[in-house]
Amino acid sequence: MEKITFYDTTMRDGEQTIGVNFSIEDKVQIAKALENYGISAIEAGFPAASDQDYEGVQQVSLAVKNASVVGLARMVRKDIDAVIKSTQSAQHPMIHIFIATSPIHREYKLHMTKKEIINKVIEEVTYTKQFMNEIVFSPEDATRTEYHFLAEIIQVAIDCGATMINLPDTVGYTTPEEYGEMFDYLKSHVKNFDQVRWSTHTHNDLGMATANALAGIAHGATEIQGTINGIGERAGNVDIIEAAAAIHVRKQKFDKQTMISLKQSKKISDMVSSKTNMPIADNKPVTGRNAFAHESGIHQDGYLKRPETYEILSPESVGATASLPLGKLSGSHAIMVKLSEMGYSISRDDMAYILPIFKKIAEKTNIVSDDEIKKMMQNFWSEKVVKNV
Ligand code: KIV
Ligand code: ZN
Repeated sequence: MEKITFYDTTMRDGEQTIGVNFSIEDKVQIAKALENYGISAIEAGFPAASDQDYEGVQQVSLAVKNASVVGLARMVRKDIDAVIKSTQSAQHPMIHIFIATSPIHREYKLHMTKKEIINKVIEEVTYTKQFMNEIVFSPEDATRTEYHFLAEIIQVAIDCGATMINLPDTVGYTTPEEYGEMFDYLKSHVKNFDQVRWSTHTHNDLGMATANALAGIAHGATEIQGTINGIGERAGNVDIIEAAAAIHVRKQKFDKQTMISLKQSKKISDMVSSKTNMPIADNKPVTGRNAFAHESGIHQDGYLKRPETYEILSPESVGATASLPLGKLSGSHAIMVKLSEMGYSISRDDMAYILPIFKKIAEKTNIVSDDEIKKMMQNFWSEKVVKNV
């Protein structure tokens, strides 16, 4: 099976999240965890942006052994030089160099013509190639760029030495079909498509970041750029954990596998959550508190008979645990299991008596706690003695 690799930008695009600011120590710790997690390339910052960013990239370059360490640069000489210098101790240094290509960015942001942008790419990628072997080129806002211009500028970047082409859906605008079509178009319009690697970079403004990244790999990309917990500008980036889990669960469909050590998912998610002060939503896929929790009676009964009835991914495989919280929708099967776990041995007749009492308690509270269950059982035993039920 073909291997899909992951490029993490938690410490660059992720750090563009409002209120997120990693210390250098945080960056080193996160980078080590990412490397253990099986990430192939770690974008550690934008070295020209601040001294702290520069030092962060430098320290990560010293700490990481196997993964590539990447710094971001605009097509600006001082940005490029800052990446070259800050990554020089890395075992595998890499630069991510970008310029916007869509009409709206050309006209209103860059005030540059297509020709001027192409000339900039020729100048700066050629300059960079003298110092860096591994060059990722991104045409920013690729998904709102005219296909023919996209193909032209990518061709130029490859001819000047880019080794990986990344296609950013900068504003989370595309759909899976369109994103796949864009890769197909480039496959047939870029001469040396197979001589470079292709990656996806999808934002989540319309909730399609994971679907779009998966469409990209189904149409020729072999690497996914994303972040842990999906942090990033505005609605964030694709969550690497979700994308890796999807490829794992649907490996037959994608006919691809990853090098991600999925078992560490929960741990790395918690680490980034605590360093960013961003709690994980309860219903977040894979890492949310409810991702492996079953409350309704029908689901609990199925789960207890065979977990796969309601779980497509085992919680253990991502370092999480399943739970069967008891609420008003829970049924006798899960309640009996819980009572037996708490040391109560009750018959089916007892259960028939207990169930309506349990439901009355559950209607008043959300999830029935162990203390409430203990109280309920004390009342039940005393009533049983008095009434001989
Ligand atoms: O989303 C984006 O376009 C980016 C670029 C810097 C590649 O993050
Ligand atoms: Zn981005």
